[in-house]
Amino acid sequence: MAYLNLDKLRKVYPNGTLAVQDMDLEIRQGEFIVFLGPSGCGKTTTLRMLAGLEQVTGGSIVLDGRDITDLAPRERNISMIFQSYAVWPHMTVAENIGYPLKLRKMKKPAIAAKVEHVAQVCGITDYLGRYPSQLSGGQRQRVAVARALAVESKLSLMDEPLSNLDAKLRVSVRTFLKEIHRESGATTIFVTHDQSEAMALADRIVVMNGGQIEQIGSTRDIYNRCDSLFTAQFMGTPPANIKNVALQIVGGRLIAGAEGKAGPVSLDLGRADAAPDIARLAGRGVCLAVRPEIIRIGSRAGINDVTIDIVEPQGAYTILVARILDSEWKVMVEGDPDLEPGLTVPLEVDASRIMLFDPESGRRL
Ligand SMILES: Nc1ncnc2c1ncn2[C@@H]1O[C@H](COP(=O)(O)OP(=O)(O)OP(=O)(O)O)[C@@H](O)[C@H]1O
Ligand SMILES: [Mg+2]
Repeated sequence: MAYLNLDKLRKVYPNGTLAVQDMDLEIRQGEFIVFLGPSGCGKTTTLRMLAGLEQVTGGSIVLDGRDITDLAPRERNISMIFQSYAVWPHMTVAENIGYPLKLRKMKKPAIAAKVEHVAQVCGITDYLGRYPSQLSGGQRQRVAVARALAVESKLSLMDEPLSNLDAKLRVSVRTFLKEIHRESGATTIFVTHDQSEAMALADRIVVMNGGQIEQIGSTRDIYNRCDSLFTAQFMGTPPANIKNVALQIVGGRLIAGAEGKAGPVSLDLGRADAAPDIARLAGRGVCLAVRPEIIRIGSRAGINDVTIDIVEPQGAYTILVARILDSEWKVMVEGDPDLEPGLTVPLEVDASRIMLFDPESGRRL
């Protein structure tokens, strides 16, 4: 049985906003789940319902065999870290971590031992006597994490806990969170709208859109086997190149064709027999999604010759911008090759990795 079970969970705010629509979700004990989705898709609302801070309009929440749908927040044994560091400015670090334990009537020596232990895990032992104002953003965030850990809750909720940190610190604190999770095994739901953060942290990602779950899966599934065009567009930096095309087989080769401003344009996707899943869709209109990294510079001039418009070196890889199928496409090539704008190169697409969607419904074909 699932450790946490959301059954048709629904939230309509008093003003009529439907924020979460009949959400079904099962989570195993110890999983690190990431809710990922654009602003306003219902991530915070779902967390607040789990924490008991928001009344549920419909459906139920069962945690570890107990229906907690209508329980008061303190009866749920759930900890929550918010976007703003919820550390108390008038308390030292040690008092911040120990306070929730004091509320739970834990004895002083036990509190001191617990504070010592989590401070060590979080690497903040040296700051226990300081006030939050005497800490850096990253250190404060660690205090918030330490406090949540100290309580040993059944479920740990984190709502964009890293969003106030600068880019570099975000990456280091997220590695730290992953280490902590590996050690503590705490069942965690982490909210973010940063897909790179989601991919780095999650055992499973829940992609949300408009109050509904779009897809649930491992990072690999969510990235490579998108159920919907929404997910394909949302995941990936730079994002996937997307175009409505007609698929055809011409001389044993798979050709994606479209109408360009100056007449028909096409992209050769390679030998049809090398990609049977795609070849079976020949003869119909599809929405084609091609991730920048599945295009490479080919060896055969004459196939997909394109002129490079922009070269953006990134050190480990280089992003090229070129006009493909009469749209501005991004191509990601390894390393820092010697390429100049204006150069014409042949391109090859790894057809086994392209994704096709129904142009009407946006669902995977
Ligand atoms: N108290 C409220 N009353 C009415 N509508 C609300 C309330 N809180 C949130 N909403 C609406 O509910 C929807 C979901 O909001 P929510 O805060 O859950 O989104 P989110 O996914 O957390 O977004 P973000 O990434 O911006 O934090 C939005 O349309 C929002 O405007
Ligand atoms: Mg939110």
